Amino acid sequence: MHIVHTIKEVRAQIKLWRNEGLSVGYIPTMGFLHEGHASLIKKASEENDRVVVSIFVNPIQFGPNEDFEKYPRDLKRDSYICSSNGAHLIFAPEPSEMYVQNNSTFVDVENITEGLCGAKRPGHFKGVCTVVSKFFNIISPDRAYFGEKDAQQLAVIRKMVIDLNFNIEIVGCPIVREPDGLALSSRNTYLSAEERKAALILNKSLKLAKASLEAGEKNPSEIKRTIIDELSKEPLAKIDYVEVVDSLSLKPIDSINNKILVAIAVYIGKTRLIDNFSF
Ligand code: PAJ
Repeated sequence: MHIVHTIKEVRAQIKLWRNEGLSVGYIPTMGFLHEGHASLIKKASEENDRVVVSIFVNPIQFGPNEDFEKYPRDLKRDSYICSSNGAHLIFAPEPSEMYVQNNSTFVDVENITEGLCGAKRPGHFKGVCTVVSKFFNIISPDRAYFGEKDAQQLAVIRKMVIDLNFNIEIVGCPIVREPDGLALSSRNTYLSAEERKAALILNKSLKLAKASLEAGEKNPSEIKRTIIDELSKEPLAKIDYVEVVDSLSLKPIDSINNKILVAIAVYIGKTRLIDNFSF
């Protein structure tokens, strides 16, 4: 497995593979990889001849008061996780390699970015879509792999790929969790031991909501109420949002008839965590 830092080097490698007729799978990441990322890499290596992972903490998808500076970074550890899960190439550019000083072009997907994390993190998805478009143009993979952990991100990328005619298959992959139910996230490293315990309330509240849906509940407000009541029991938890939306449009719904997404964002201390399920 190679690690490269420039666009020129990635393109040269991809060209060699393409000349051999090999297929390419791609996983965009911000590094500090865990089993969630590993599951995407593993799936890509099963479905493609060659696998590229990008590791780039994308400055333009972080808000001014967010954690860009302190976001954890460890390329050595990441490269071990990549190679042991079947990756062939890591592309780890510096911000200066990805953005010219006066970058004027951005990709902004409308409508489905309005609610959920889009409402709470203005400009976030514009930053995500811009960088993912750039990586798609640099790597031109056959398939790209995204986690359902970031359900809105996955939906936004699917829409962007249709709207901009990217010839790339988007593959969604299930959420990987710790044995106790906490969804894996690079940001879990911010949690103290006490907060780590408190963070279990996210999955616990979603499980209650799922049970209520399975028992036949059809009122989205009741589902939200169940989650909010449970989250309110945890003193370290502060709700950012609790939403029940249509799984395609990501718009709030009055009654549950089609496939839905139940999505939450919760601060545990200063750390913002997200979780969701589809039903
Ligand atoms: P990052 O948070 O590093 O996540 C990279 C990919 O791993 C995303 O598709 C995310 O959904 C997936 N992932 C994270 N935790 C997961 C889990 N517990 N189970 C399954 N998949 C999981 O998402 C980003 O980076 C960035 O926004 C990026 C797309 C790279 C653009 O900068």
